[in-house]
Amino acid sequence: MLETQGIRLDVSAAEKFLAPGAVDALADQVRTVATELENGQGPGAEYLGWLGLPGSITEDDLAAMQASGDRARSAEVYVVVGIGGSYLGARAVLEALGGTAAGCPEIVFAGTGLCSATLDRVLRKIEGRDFRVCVISKSGTTLEPAVAFRLLRAELEKRYGLDGAAERITAVTDKSRGALRELADKQGYETFVIPDDVGGRFSVLTPVGLVPLAAAGLDIRALVRGAADMAIACTGTELRENPAHLYAATRHLLYKKGFNTEVMSTFTADLQMIQEWWKQLFGESEGKGGQGIFPASTVFTTDLHSLGQYVQDGRRELQETFLCVRNVVGSITVPDDPADLDGLNYLAGRSLDDINWKAFEGTRQAHLDGGVPCTSLEIERVTPEVVGALLYMFEKAVAVSGRLLGVNPFDQPGVETYKKEMFRRLGK
Ligand code: PA5
Repeated sequence: MLETQGIRLDVSAAEKFLAPGAVDALADQVRTVATELENGQGPGAEYLGWLGLPGSITEDDLAAMQASGDRARSAEVYVVVGIGGSYLGARAVLEALGGTAAGCPEIVFAGTGLCSATLDRVLRKIEGRDFRVCVISKSGTTLEPAVAFRLLRAELEKRYGLDGAAERITAVTDKSRGALRELADKQGYETFVIPDDVGGRFSVLTPVGLVPLAAAGLDIRALVRGAADMAIACTGTELRENPAHLYAATRHLLYKKGFNTEVMSTFTADLQMIQEWWKQLFGESEGKGGQGIFPASTVFTTDLHSLGQYVQDGRRELQETFLCVRNVVGSITVPDDPADLDGLNYLAGRSLDDINWKAFEGTRQAHLDGGVPCTSLEIERVTPEVVGALLYMFEKAVAVSGRLLGVNPFDQPGVETYKKEMFRRLGK
């Protein structure tokens, strides 16, 4: 068990599915790819800005984002427009930390797809309520957020006029390129820059994640601090002392043995968007050239009553990573009932979290017995520091894991193919 910044990583059960000593035998190769990353070498080297990001964010940067967040408090609703890497990180952190702080606007996400019913619901939410918009797009041309922003901007301009609208819009985009940058400069929106050397899925610790989180009243300094501490822990060269490297090495070796789908399972529903963020990070980074572990997710115990059957007993190509929280914020205990007609008195007085933890332990054992290599990431309590540390650990792990696989973890050439077909049909 390796404990780093409040996160306990246990690969011992998963290792039993590998040849004895296999993980340690990979240490030299892991060190080589990690050193290449640290030295800014190898495929995708132009997108390594995230690596030193948490330590390099200045107090001025944080203060500017905090000030933007503070200004947002005057609104009732804060609509965050973005998709993929320009959306998932902020939502993942927001939900993991239990949502908006008291006195802050309701955070609503838009531009995450092309479903009109979903966008309609967002438009209904802002009816008769004062709102602001934070539009996030690195390219500035992505269809989904561009369409949503056009509608929201029109609504703001109708209600408050051009100047009033401009005062209520924050744009997070490239420093000089793209349609959004041009529009923001022309209209005088508040802007924040997405660094050139940080790709979308690695951008949660840039203004992409931090500006909306500041508006939600969350402690962005603590988030960055946690990531910075984890960044230091993840530079260690001892495989068994570096959580990102150990996790990357284990899952890579399991993949080589045919465990080519990794299911991230949690018993804490608030972490569901962390799973979604993780799926993008790992799927987009590794799934290329006919290779890569397919990232999937389950929320237990809910999914034990659906996908649990497959995990226990379906094709034996799954590896599972549990992301579990020991102490959740809730404080519900099972009440005593003298009649005990439902037969639950054996649980009377026990906390739901404790019962949930037993469900986790039981499930892990059952899945191991069923032939699923299980890794655990256990968190004592979800705090901004721990979430920051977790996000950074995954970023470093996927960079190492992708390089072990021999792919460029920082590009996503495959996502252009559907766009060509879609735009041809739309007559672009
Ligand atoms: O990781 C990625 O690169 C993608 O998910 C992008 O973040 C997503 O497509 C949004 O792109 P943009 O920020 O350019 O609108």
